[in-house]
Amino acid sequence: MTKERGLKRNLTNYGDKEFATYLRKSFARSMGISKEMLDKPIVGIAMTPSGFNSCHRGMPELVDAVSRGILAAGALPRPFPTISLGEVFLSPTSMVYRNLMAMDTEEMVRAQPMDAVVMIGGCDKTVPAQLMGAASADIPTIQLVTGPMSTGRHRGERLGACTDCRRFWGKYRANEIDTAEITEIEGKLSTTSGTCGVMGTASTMACIAETLGMSLPDTAAIPSVHSERLVAAEASGHAIVQLIDNQILPSEIITEKSVENAFRVLMAISGSTNAIVHLTAVAGRLGIKISDERLNEISDETPVLVNLKPVGEGYMEDFYAAGGLRAVLHEIKHLLHLDTINVLGQTLGEILEEPMDWVDRTYIKSLDDPVSNVGGLISVKGNIAPDGAIFKRAAATPELFEVEGRAVVFENLEDLANRIDDPDLDVEANDILVLKNAGPVAAGMPEAGYLPIPKKLAQQGVKDMVRLSDARMSGTAFGTILLHISPEAGIGGPLAAVENGDRIQFSVSKKRIELLVDDKTIEMRLKNKEPLKMPERGYRALYSKTVLQAPDGCDFDFLRHTSADS
Ligand code: FES
Repeated sequence: MTKERGLKRNLTNYGDKEFATYLRKSFARSMGISKEMLDKPIVGIAMTPSGFNSCHRGMPELVDAVSRGILAAGALPRPFPTISLGEVFLSPTSMVYRNLMAMDTEEMVRAQPMDAVVMIGGCDKTVPAQLMGAASADIPTIQLVTGPMSTGRHRGERLGACTDCRRFWGKYRANEIDTAEITEIEGKLSTTSGTCGVMGTASTMACIAETLGMSLPDTAAIPSVHSERLVAAEASGHAIVQLIDNQILPSEIITEKSVENAFRVLMAISGSTNAIVHLTAVAGRLGIKISDERLNEISDETPVLVNLKPVGEGYMEDFYAAGGLRAVLHEIKHLLHLDTINVLGQTLGEILEEPMDWVDRTYIKSLDDPVSNVGGLISVKGNIAPDGAIFKRAAATPELFEVEGRAVVFENLEDLANRIDDPDLDVEANDILVLKNAGPVAAGMPEAGYLPIPKKLAQQGVKDMVRLSDARMSGTAFGTILLHISPEAGIGGPLAAVENGDRIQFSVSKKRIELLVDDKTIEMRLKNKEPLKMPERGYRALYSKTVLQAPDGCDFDFLRHTSADS
């Protein structure tokens, strides 16, 4: 990358730099930009509007507001598009395309003439992809999020995507509501611009971006439709221009300490399981790795303080009004590294110097009255998951924390879809549902870990069962669900050896998951498995050949930090 400023950065290679500058200026002027403006520093705006991304519906207004801030601070804003990932519009799962978006973001930041960049994302995979790209491109960057949706109403009840989507769908499957009502609800779950209105993956990642120091303070939770969101966008535009002369790079902001802080916040807000994979991938871009043991230490030391769905009661609009992320950071201040810095050059200690005037304790609890004494997520290991699995204890049923049960196995996603509602399925409420071949290589790791309760049990009133898989689950989902089992079944992980009728033991207190089958039998079963058929062309071939397992954030092996990056 060049040390030149503005339009002279990253010149097209014609073998004649002056000609390249001349030609570039000529084409830039064709956009109606004055010669004077073209001499200014340039700030890129990585924008992600899409007709397939409802969560980014407010993007044009945000781009305008960021541009306003950049212009007022004396630089030239240049919005540019990258891939946009609308969670529910992508097949087989948006997770497959997160790394593609990260590559797109990194390469467009590297290739185009910008001195700094504001990245605007929101929907689940977009902020992780942008942070991964920012960490690798490593020019001054500010992350702005689109903000969470506001709630809708149904017959007097507040609704928010997408915990309530699942809750009502569960009722529909149990015949508690009819087709007319579920269709009516469909139009009320997601009514404003913005990301899912609960503490799902999008809101968790927004809180993580702010905790890392990559977003302006107090911006993670501002509702999408709130005027403050536009003020935050303008302020982000203004702040990024200051970073051109006083460079603070993503690699100085995302450090082992700020990543630990982000994991703490993840526990305190009882955030999405997906955020573990994403934060691991972002950190991995800078050679930072937090071990499972450290993750569990952080979880055991950090109380859950946020009472929001899918774990508790409120919605993101309540969280914002209650005091937002700052109120959470204040409560766990004694557990945080306070010398980390943010994009404004402030330390976390400086940000938290002023006490909070007021906090709504309905939604953000105090340290002495937490939602739970321990963090929301833990890493679990055992002979089915030698490299680990993730369990969201805060969203699970405590009566199912120490159990042994009979395995009811689904070989893959198709098998699950075909048989889960079969009235002849041999399944009982205290069985353990096992899904195989839904990991990163086999299936792109879809959010299929929230296996539905078999219809015949749902209709008997069964609300939760122990379920385990190498898949992920939506940040808005809940239940006694073990996810991200590594290594995945598709590449020969021991999960592949589980058979119908095997006994499985699960212990939250011991953080263990064990298949009660002897090692020799497991080995023999694995030997007899057919290898996966891998895609042969295009992006999917690249993906399946190079994607890493969940403990490495499912990044591509060739995108991780190397010693040459140091
Ligand atoms: Fe975009 Fe939930 S679908 S954040």
